[in-house]
Amino acid sequence: MSSEPSGGPPADLDASKLPAHIAIIMDGNGRWAKQRLLHRVKGHEKGAETVRNIVRACRQIGIAHLTLYAFSTENWQRPRTEIAALMHLLQRFLQSELPELKENNIRLRCVGQIQRLPAAVQEKLDTVMEATRTNDAMTLTLALSYGGRAEILRAARELARRVRDDRMDPDQIDERSFSSCLYTADLPDPDLLIRTSGEHRISNFLLWQIAYSEIFITDTLWPDFTTEEFIEILRSYQRRERRFGRVG
Ligand code: IPE
Ligand code: IPE
Ligand code: MG
Repeated sequence: MSSEPSGGPPADLDASKLPAHIAIIMDGNGRWAKQRLLHRVKGHEKGAETVRNIVRACRQIGIAHLTLYAFSTENWQRPRTEIAALMHLLQRFLQSELPELKENNIRLRCVGQIQRLPAAVQEKLDTVMEATRTNDAMTLTLALSYGGRAEILRAARELARRVRDDRMDPDQIDERSFSSCLYTADLPDPDLLIRTSGEHRISNFLLWQIAYSEIFITDTLWPDFTTEEFIEILRSYQRRERRFGRVG
């Protein structure tokens, strides 16, 4: 793929109707491992391979923004050993993917309570974000220690401070100024939200931003999720009529 990163979408996809921003709740790693009588961590390792494949596919198809839910604020309540394994895997992943991100002109960003991550992970993130800062073919955003409610509270606090300090009038708090205080300030709202492994819930992901996202839930477990199924979801997305509350 690195020899031809921007091959464009498959012929049956309409290049003018691609989602600008795709967000994915990557769920099902644990169940994938359990089905195989493996340790949950093996599922996360296999899931990292899916991440690589889907990032490549997005770059090749020409998706501008991809946001992946990798670790939620609630995931801190998992067993210490699983958290440690996930953090270690993340660090290894950042290390191994840097050359390809650079080669394919992909910028890495992250959203969430990054200060809660282990120092070694924060350092690796800084390195990769700095090394890809000027890349502009695609942004890959990792949601890490991310929670939608925490993000909204953070924005509310920031706006309250501005009002208190007379830098803003309460009437100036509108959707635009509120959005600008979210982690995702410089990203468009997701057009498409995908959740793997069949749960019909949002699990505190991008609560504000998904107001009008098209939602696709597949039963496929994240480690089994393929580029082919991803493209099938894009086809199905293109057949949907987005009305945004208006008449068709
Ligand atoms: C998603 O897979 C990865 C993370 C939440 C970190 P899970 O670990 O939630 O897998 P299941 O839902 O238990 O199968
Ligand atoms: C959502 O998956 C979080 C991530 C994919 C990182 P979870 O497995 O944590 O969500 P629940 O517990 O099924 O809602
Ligand atoms: Mg899960």
